[in-house]
Amino acid sequence: MVSHSGLLTVIDRAARKVAPQLRRDFGEVQHLQVSRKGPADFVSMADQKAERTLVAELQKARPDWGFLLEEGGEIAGDPTKPRWVVDPLDGTTNFLHGIPHFAISIAVQEPKLGGQGWGEVTTGLVYQPITDESYWAEKSRGAWRHDQRLRVSARRDLSEALIATGIPFLGHGDMAQWSRIFGAIAPSIAGIRRFGAASLDLAHVAAGRYDGFWESGLQPWDVAAGMLIVREAGGFVTDFRGGAEPIERREVLAANDVIHSKLHKLLAGALRNA
Ligand code: IPD
Ligand code: CA
Ligand code: CA
Repeated sequence: MVSHSGLLTVIDRAARKVAPQLRRDFGEVQHLQVSRKGPADFVSMADQKAERTLVAELQKARPDWGFLLEEGGEIAGDPTKPRWVVDPLDGTTNFLHGIPHFAISIAVQEPKLGGQGWGEVTTGLVYQPITDESYWAEKSRGAWRHDQRLRVSARRDLSEALIATGIPFLGHGDMAQWSRIFGAIAPSIAGIRRFGAASLDLAHVAAGRYDGFWESGLQPWDVAAGMLIVREAGGFVTDFRGGAEPIERREVLAANDVIHSKLHKLLAGALRNA
């Protein structure tokens, strides 16, 4: 059994406390689908309830740390201490439609020197309650699914590569840009998938299931944990122009080194020809 830090134990325990709650609510949504009685409101309540439980658990363990929460926004803590970056339910649309593909994402982000904003993510966990798959990473200690070490895929040919993405939807993202990138990439690769939970898209890149992933318009809570997991699995994560700060630019391109460089070229061409 691989040993992990006390901090990871705290995060894992918090996720496992929320998981049964989410599984119960997920079962409940199926009944609401047929009664047509506001499943969307129910899911948004499930989401908020999960977040409250996570905050309470994490706060118990580190009372002076702040939060960046999808639902509750920022909760200030001691600015010299790390903060939690939390998405209590990533894959809400799947959850709402009874599709068992969603996750809890929790990351630890360090303060920048001098208290000027937020910097490196040093711990991350993506937990999928339905399959009980737990993906986690700590900086310089590798990426893991339970106690199995993760490596990004070793594929080098785009013609064999399976690539995940997030497609813009109602009020989200830049459809024209996505279409250009799709047009540049799709003819060269083996397949494209849009599964609807960015944290899991990244975890699956880390596990070598996908050979790459791109999406724009994502928020820090969608990607903070997953990005660390990909990097610790030996992968590259940048923005679309190859820059090292994808969270700030709200653009993520993740893959193994060879596929990353090939995708990056195609992407750069697509953006240049805009
Ligand atoms: C969404 C998922 C999805 C991505 C969206 C996100 P949510 O998060 O990660 O894959 O395409 O942009 O907002 O709303 O389900 O937590
Ligand atoms: Ca969410
Ligand atoms: Ca999300």
